[in-house]
Amino acid sequence: MSSKNTILFGKAAIEDLKQELIMFRSDGRELFLLVDENTHKHCFPVLKALVGKKNFDPAVLEISSGEQNKNLRTAGDLWSQLTIAGVKRDAVLLTLGGGVISDMGGFVASTYKRGIAVMHIPTTLLGMIDAAIGGKTGIDFMGYKNHIGSFYQPEKVFVIPEFLKSLDQRYWRSGMGELLKYGFIKHPELLKSDAFFDENREEAMTLIELAATAKLEIITKDPLEKGLRKILNFGHTIGHAFESFALGKGQDLLHGEAIAAGMLAELWLSVKYCKLNVQVLEEYKELYLKLFQPFLIQEEAIDELMQLILHDKKNAAQKLNFVLLKAPGKAVFDIAVEPSDIDACLRWYIELLNEDDES
Ligand SMILES: NC(=O)c1ccc[n+]([C@@H]2O[C@H](COP(=O)([O-])OP(=O)(O)OC[C@H]3O[C@@H](n4cnc5c(N)ncnc54)[C@H](O)[C@@H]3O)[C@@H](O)[C@H]2O)c1
Repeated sequence: MSSKNTILFGKAAIEDLKQELIMFRSDGRELFLLVDENTHKHCFPVLKALVGKKNFDPAVLEISSGEQNKNLRTAGDLWSQLTIAGVKRDAVLLTLGGGVISDMGGFVASTYKRGIAVMHIPTTLLGMIDAAIGGKTGIDFMGYKNHIGSFYQPEKVFVIPEFLKSLDQRYWRSGMGELLKYGFIKHPELLKSDAFFDENREEAMTLIELAATAKLEIITKDPLEKGLRKILNFGHTIGHAFESFALGKGQDLLHGEAIAAGMLAELWLSVKYCKLNVQVLEEYKELYLKLFQPFLIQEEAIDELMQLILHDKKNAAQKLNFVLLKAPGKAVFDIAVEPSDIDACLRWYIELLNEDDES
């Protein structure tokens, strides 16, 4: 892996970003800032105040917020705008937003003239601990999540907690879904943290660095997901199927919420395949129900979900490979799971949550 992908936190991030902006200006490099309407309104003024207006006068590219806009049409609009503006290969794209913005910005930057530099300033919890780190870019296509994309490392990622102040509570909780994943795959202490219930968001700041650093360590060892990096997909095989299913039906389900539900199902598989202590599943079930609005599905959805899981890009040669847990902090990958067990798992999930919903 190249020296790209440096992550800076807090004050160090702000100082470094200021230096970068001075250099872009002195080198005559064009600077573009990708935002959506919310980060334009809430985060752009904060960013200007943090870095000072003097060296910061980017051309702003705004797209509409939301997963439904992470598509080819939006990418096409951005390519068009860059083309019409005559943007050269030494330009820099700075993204300011959540995972939709960093995925889209990374994708457009990786493809425009075969690649211009991209740097991310994540503004959601999920972006700070996951989406902005690791160089996976992508758009949704034909109903499949992240179906078209590339691996393209950002030059730098600036994690600045100030932006979290304006983040909506539901997105905050959604980020907690991915944060819990780091508890399962690497840092079990995260699973016991009170930060999940800290409405002031003060406590969670310390966890962001832990999770972001964990991701960086993993992707540095395995940038192209040949092995170890797969553990970052814990909860994602079923979680992505839930997400694609909801997207197709126009249901409102956020990424972190889908992963939180996917982890519940994949913990059940972990008990069956990897002898995970059933207590871990029980405790997580309680936490999941406290933190999230349960994602309810009906039996009729099972066939469609199975199709989506089969189509999952992680399943080489139609083998249903999962990341499962032996214990919190001990994830194992490439565990082949029988389709009949996935079916049983989905039925268990449906019964569990629908029962709870009725009680
Ligand atoms: N590339 C990766 O490795 C990776 C990893 C995980 C998730 N993702 C992707 O990330 C996306 C989800 O990201 P997300 O949860 O950050 O959602 P998001 O990008 O949709 O942002 C959430 C919402 O909050 C708004 N917003 C963002 N920051 C704000 C702030 N500070 N104040 C006020 N409003 C703000 C946005 O406009 C949006 O409406 C999904 O598309 C998912 O596939 C990618």
